Amino acid sequence: MRVGVLTGGGDCPGLNAVIRAVVRRSIITHEYDVLGIRNGWNGLLEGDVDPLGLYAVSGILHRGGTILGTSRTNPAKDKDDIRRVMDNIQRYEIDALVVIGGNDTLSAALELFNRGVKVVGIPKTIDNDILGTDYTFGFNTAVSVVTEAIDRLHTTAESHHRVMVVEVMGRHSGWIAVMSGIAGGADMILIPEVPFDIDEVCEALKKRHKKKKFSILVVAEGAVPKDGELVLAGKGTDAFGNVRLGGIGQVLGNEIEKRSGIETRVTILGHIQRGGTPTAYDRILATRFGVRAVDAVSEGEFGKMVALRSEDIVLLDIKKAILANKQVDMKLYEIAELFFG
Ligand code: F6P
Repeated sequence: MRVGVLTGGGDCPGLNAVIRAVVRRSIITHEYDVLGIRNGWNGLLEGDVDPLGLYAVSGILHRGGTILGTSRTNPAKDKDDIRRVMDNIQRYEIDALVVIGGNDTLSAALELFNRGVKVVGIPKTIDNDILGTDYTFGFNTAVSVVTEAIDRLHTTAESHHRVMVVEVMGRHSGWIAVMSGIAGGADMILIPEVPFDIDEVCEALKKRHKKKKFSILVVAEGAVPKDGELVLAGKGTDAFGNVRLGGIGQVLGNEIEKRSGIETRVTILGHIQRGGTPTAYDRILATRFGVRAVDAVSEGEFGKMVALRSEDIVLLDIKKAILANKQVDMKLYEIAELFFG
């Protein structure tokens, strides 16, 4: 049996831990060969593949990024592309494919599964927005990075009596904002799930500044004002139709300073949240996902995705996982709100 493995979409801490687990479980437990596919779906379009042995995955557990490379290539966009992918799967004698990715990469995996390819999915994204799994790996690392940044911004905000706006990733859901905001003691958190009213935001900050002379406001890049639109970082979309977000922090910071008169500074954490060493939690979750995915291959459980449910790693249909983006649990947001103002 030959297993192909690819990482697609935005990278995230823990990808190398999954690749390592997929390779070791395949070779040591099941005596499968593993083929590493470079740069996500692009590797299957171009035939950019290489055997992955135990030596190739040694020493990568703690490293961020992905040794395979990644891309946002969408093989299902065009009929010729999907044919090329199917041809290359045959040419390289790939019996089963382990696809590590977010909603877009997994939706392409489903497209191939529907055409007869034996696929198992592994959910990854720092955004934690995939349905059916309690957490995705990468998320815990991102929350730790943002929490540390909030801690650092606290001391300078307090010294200068400023509002500090911290823009974090989270395209469709505010998981990073809410979790790091709770951990960092944010005075306000704005997320895509709850459109905000700029008047209310400014009033709440002015009220707080009568007693406390500084504030930390965490905003997810996908947060939208009640009567406004998403703020985009640039024009155009990627191959899956995603717009590039970014800039809401600055828009908000300008507005807050203008309306409230409180000096305001903006920090955009950007890709710092996605790079670097994974936390122990993410390394362990990624390792468990990788092992379970290869076991799913051996059990013939195709069209499935591994997922964390409470303490267990379970399998669920990819088609259920990609139905929508997993939104922030409002009970969690209510807890965060208790500490606003
Ligand atoms: O999907 C994960 C994510 O990190 C989003 O939070 C963010 O909007 C996007 O990727 C950024 O993508 P890129 O690295 O392509 O700019």
